[in-house]
Amino acid sequence: MKKFAILAALALSPFFLAQNIISKPAQSYQSAPYQSKKKAFIDNLISKMTLDEKIGQLNLPSSGDFTTGQAQSSDIGKKVEQGLVGGLFNIKGVDKIREVQKVAVEKSRLKIPMIFGMDVIHGYETSFPIPLGLASSWDTDLIQRSAQIAAQEATADGINWTFSPMVDISRDPRWGRVSEGAGEDPYLGSEIAKAMVYGYQGDDLAKKNTMLACVKHFALYGAAEGGRDYNTVDMSHLQMYNTYFPPYKAAVEAGAGSVMASFNEIDGIPATGNKWLLTDVLRKQWNFKGFVVTDYTGINEMIDHGMGDLQEVSALAINAGVDMDMVGEGFLKTLKKSISEGKVTEQAVTDAARRILEAKYDLGLFDDPYKYTDSKRAQREVFSPKNLEAAKTISSQSMVLLKNNKQVLPLQKSGTVAVIGPLGDNAVNMPGTWSVAAKHANSISLLRGLKESVGKNVKFLYAKGSNIYESAEMEEKVSMFGKSAGRDNRPADQIRKEAIAIANQADVVLLAIGESAEMSGESSSRTDIGIPETQKELLRELKKTGKPIVIVLFTGRPLVLTEESQLADAILNVWFPGSMAGYAISDVLYGKVNPSGKLPMTFPRSVGQVPLYYNAKNTGRPLSLENTEKCKFEKFRSNYLDECNTPLYPFGFGLSYTTFGYSDVSVSNAKPTGNTAIEASVTLTNNGKYDGAEVVQLYIRDLVGSITRPVKELKGFQKVYLKAGESKKVTFKISPEDLKFYNNQLKYDWEAGDFDIMIGSNSHDVKTTRVNWSK
Ligand code: BGC
Repeated sequence: MKKFAILAALALSPFFLAQNIISKPAQSYQSAPYQSKKKAFIDNLISKMTLDEKIGQLNLPSSGDFTTGQAQSSDIGKKVEQGLVGGLFNIKGVDKIREVQKVAVEKSRLKIPMIFGMDVIHGYETSFPIPLGLASSWDTDLIQRSAQIAAQEATADGINWTFSPMVDISRDPRWGRVSEGAGEDPYLGSEIAKAMVYGYQGDDLAKKNTMLACVKHFALYGAAEGGRDYNTVDMSHLQMYNTYFPPYKAAVEAGAGSVMASFNEIDGIPATGNKWLLTDVLRKQWNFKGFVVTDYTGINEMIDHGMGDLQEVSALAINAGVDMDMVGEGFLKTLKKSISEGKVTEQAVTDAARRILEAKYDLGLFDDPYKYTDSKRAQREVFSPKNLEAAKTISSQSMVLLKNNKQVLPLQKSGTVAVIGPLGDNAVNMPGTWSVAAKHANSISLLRGLKESVGKNVKFLYAKGSNIYESAEMEEKVSMFGKSAGRDNRPADQIRKEAIAIANQADVVLLAIGESAEMSGESSSRTDIGIPETQKELLRELKKTGKPIVIVLFTGRPLVLTEESQLADAILNVWFPGSMAGYAISDVLYGKVNPSGKLPMTFPRSVGQVPLYYNAKNTGRPLSLENTEKCKFEKFRSNYLDECNTPLYPFGFGLSYTTFGYSDVSVSNAKPTGNTAIEASVTLTNNGKYDGAEVVQLYIRDLVGSITRPVKELKGFQKVYLKAGESKKVTFKISPEDLKFYNNQLKYDWEAGDFDIMIGSNSHDVKTTRVNWSK
């Protein structure tokens, strides 16, 4: 197949992304005079508030019970008027928001403005790839830019608080919410957490186009037993501090203005009522100054957890450090009584109200409660061509090329292409899960994107080929929120036959299969993380045509692709790419953009290997390296009778249309002492035919420790753009700071000894050198 010698350099160096990249907390503008002015203002306001009004600030209902023109007479409007609501969420539309804000600032006694929240998780109306996809770009500037655009659109439409970033580490792809996070790694997760907070909050929360971030779900929500959503979590403190806490801490240090407590328990106490977590760790150890909100009915759910009745669990929550009660009204209904019975102090309520008022002050709402409600701005800035163009670039950077046998990709711009599969012409699924504000129907399907971007020299044929699931019942479960795959009720073999017929007329098959958008996300746990059988059957039948098959994989989680990886000639994992899906996929398939995404989470060979992650411990009976590579069973070693230890695709993996060569690793000093930093370098060479980007990854192993240490840990990465034939020295600075971990006294420090310094293109393929670092 003919190849394009030159890939657009433009697409490789997203120039627009360089704008406004911020790397300091928004609150850093808070000078001493600002802070004392704020304190005086809030002291004065609090001195006028009744206990009911203070409790009202802690109340966060989900809106939805009024239509435009009815704010004041609605149930919610009445509560707002009485000063019993601090903020609202799930309300969309600038006119509606202005209307209900008007009730707050014109009808309520103290005229306190409300904040307006929403799950703006990967874009607003302009939808970006799902967060796991964004993470696959390993490009924090680009991720920050996506959050900036999300903030720009959301604030233009009245929203000033987002329930994002979701930074829950997870090692379990059965858990559907892995789609909302940055994957399995604490270092990558922390870098992305910071980028998102900076993107949303900017350098000044009071600006019109920045909004308050909310780090969630604090904490450990991604470690639910069995990958079943909302399930129990039981974890050692070592594991919390070393693996699961770092991204939350990074987001707090980046200045995130709010934190959401998670649904799960920690050490036997639900996070929402866990004082150790919300006060000792979050406020005392990490110096968090913002406010804590529960997750949806998080307080009430403590009744089912077995922590007491509504009054008891509400008292438990406020005493633990919760400030705002999402939906459940436990605070509204019981705090007054608890105060009169001495179970809660009025001071606790005052402190919580103060934190919420401070956030409103920082957003500038007391100066202008209508600052986010300019309808003209909404029309101009939401779903704008400029934002969609950015979304297209960001989407194409998130895609991960998993296989490319005989360089079947990029495709040539001629001949006939059969686009087949239930996701081949489906716009509404393109934004993926948790895309509440997205314009689903306006998204670009794969077929449309191809037809509109590739030009007339290619003839595109289309057939659906299969449903998502053969079972109508299963398909219904995964087609929520209007995201249907347009079920075809004919028998599966009849639907398949049409597809085989068009495949036979084509030069290549683009097979768009995988998950529908709602097969991942909240409450979408799966025990079988494969592609549903009816879609696999389609692949098997298509294989028999002998045509080259390129799987365009849609998924919100790592899948088991063992059979697919054998049958397909190429696999491009596009996750859920967002509004501009079809254009972005087309750019990658036809080589306008050379794929550079890398997996932020391990793809197992079998669900039975889960949890499977790269930064594992060695154990006392590790399988030999040789047998690990050969997948050879050894009795009395840590391995399986019926499966290899290795994943199908390791963490950090992703191919390019070009190839990169790595030299050996050289270090500036192999025997460093004390706090000196050293440099570790490789020469990276683009030795293929295309310009392209490589994410160079640095891993370190601490060989001997006072506690057992992982076999490798990511400690740095750089995305490097090289023209075909070009070489570059890539250098990482390593200091003892990078060697630190929490020991079994939970002391954060490093220990002298030998360290393996590994640099490579994924967590499996690395070059290694050893250094001895003494104190
Ligand atoms: C989810 C949160 C979300 C909240 C508000 C909950 O069900 O767990 O992630 O922010 O709803 O929509």
